[in-house]
Amino acid sequence: MSEPPTSSSICLCVTGGVAAYKSAHLASRLTQAGISVHVALSPAAKHFIGPATFLALTGNPVIESVFAGEQAPYGGHIRLASECDILAVVPATANFLAKAAQGQSDCIASATYLAFDGPVFVAPAMNATMWKKPATQRNLQQLQADGTTILHPEEGWLSCRQHGQGRLQDIDQILDFLIRQATS
Ligand SMILES: Cc1cc2nc3c(=O)[nH]c(=O)nc-3n(C[C@H](O)[C@H](O)[C@H](O)COP(=O)(O)O)c2cc1C
Repeated sequence: MSEPPTSSSICLCVTGGVAAYKSAHLASRLTQAGISVHVALSPAAKHFIGPATFLALTGNPVIESVFAGEQAPYGGHIRLASECDILAVVPATANFLAKAAQGQSDCIASATYLAFDGPVFVAPAMNATMWKKPATQRNLQQLQADGTTILHPEEGWLSCRQHGQGRLQDIDQILDFLIRQATS
């Protein structure tokens, strides 16, 4: 068995939307590209996909809470923020966008976002009405003003069985983008 040498590390925060299942493909392909992937799961994300999948795919422990005991003496958010080169939130819920825009840090994903001092890439996915809502658009503008890169969602089939804006950007497009960022 051979694994590629790791060149850089990425913190992949997964938040609670149906598109969370696509982040498993992302984690696997990033790992195969030689990038060390460290996954943080929001509590809601665990309703959609579990830590065992990411542990198996990445070979790294999955962080589910700032209080994860094995992260001592730091909180899990500080350890992730200090050990990773880039931060990607895929998928990012409307809730995550709101919290990040406000500097709230009440879960591992939002706390790591706040603690991280490097390039941040956020790929929102949600229902079309949630996406269009002025509050969501305001939060996006704030995040962009703060230096966060938004990987914009597409128009297409949504899990609420409607067609509209809010579908996670094509996961292979996100993959290619993140590989370029991680290896440049
Ligand atoms: C079946 C189902 C699908 C959901 N899909 C999404 C989604 O795609 N995007 C989103 O922003 N919220 C979605 N939600 C709502 C979030 O799970 C909810 O706002 C949650 O509090 C987000 O928590 P988090 O941001 O900490 O992960 C969904 C909820 C359910 C029950």
